[in-house]
Amino acid sequence: MILYLFFAHIASSYLALANPVAILSASQCGTHISTEKMIAAEKHFATNKVSFDGLRTTASAVNVYFHTIEKDSKREGYVSDAVVNKQIQALNEHYAGSGMRFVLKNTTRTISADWFSSAFPKSNGQAAMKKHLRQGGASDLNIYTVGFENAENPDLLGYATFPSDVKSDLEDDGVVVHYSSLPGGSKKGYNEGKILTHEVGHWAGLLHTFQGGCEGEGDGVADTPAQASATKGCPEKRDSCPDQPGLDPINNFMDYSNTE
Ligand SMILES: *[C@@H]1O[C@H](CO)[C@@H](O)[C@H](O)[C@H]1NC(C)=O
Ligand SMILES: [Zn+2]
Repeated sequence: MILYLFFAHIASSYLALANPVAILSASQCGTHISTEKMIAAEKHFATNKVSFDGLRTTASAVNVYFHTIEKDSKREGYVSDAVVNKQIQALNEHYAGSGMRFVLKNTTRTISADWFSSAFPKSNGQAAMKKHLRQGGASDLNIYTVGFENAENPDLLGYATFPSDVKSDLEDDGVVVHYSSLPGGSKKGYNEGKILTHEVGHWAGLLHTFQGGCEGEGDGVADTPAQASATKGCPEKRDSCPDQPGLDPINNFMDYSNTE
């Protein structure tokens, strides 16, 4: 699947892309990248990339700081230690063989109706939340679970920063997901912890598999088949770019396919 994964930040695998990103109207993932950002990301990748073998032999584990936000005293958004551990385990299963390994360093719990509802891409709420809670340095992964109640996109399940952002804005670095997407959560079809795996993919420098459509560079990973658009559900024989080799990569975590 993914041949080059990076330590975001230490060295990240980023992919050369010519086309602007397709922006989807209703998507679970709120991570979008502009053409400008993509060019910066390519440059960053070119100077920081490491080979897969290099990553496997030199990389140590990624420290994870997990921050749960609950809405109020009724504890909406509560995530138990058991669920946090299951999520870290799922992450490690999904990244097995990639050279990346995740170790939980600390879990913080905060009650904040404001952050629970108003932390979403580019919001003031998310900036305040990260400013208060972020721990560690550029190579450490901070994960925040919230409710996205005030987000414009009612389907939003997560978003992430890219490795190329970290130098200019360490405080913003990290991944935010809906608490119901964690393993065993209430978001049917999206509750196996794979939303976080997808967002951590962005954090490590990966793009969507359908980036740029059939004629674009896709995710820039050589063995990912071309894909016209995001997949809904799990259509096994989907072939949205019939003139190009391979069926759609619906099993790739960087698509939007799901189990329902
Ligand atoms: C976890 O983070 C909290 C909040 O910053 C801090 O008080 C605590 O000492 C940390 N625990 C560990 C084990 O690092
Ligand atoms: Zn995404």
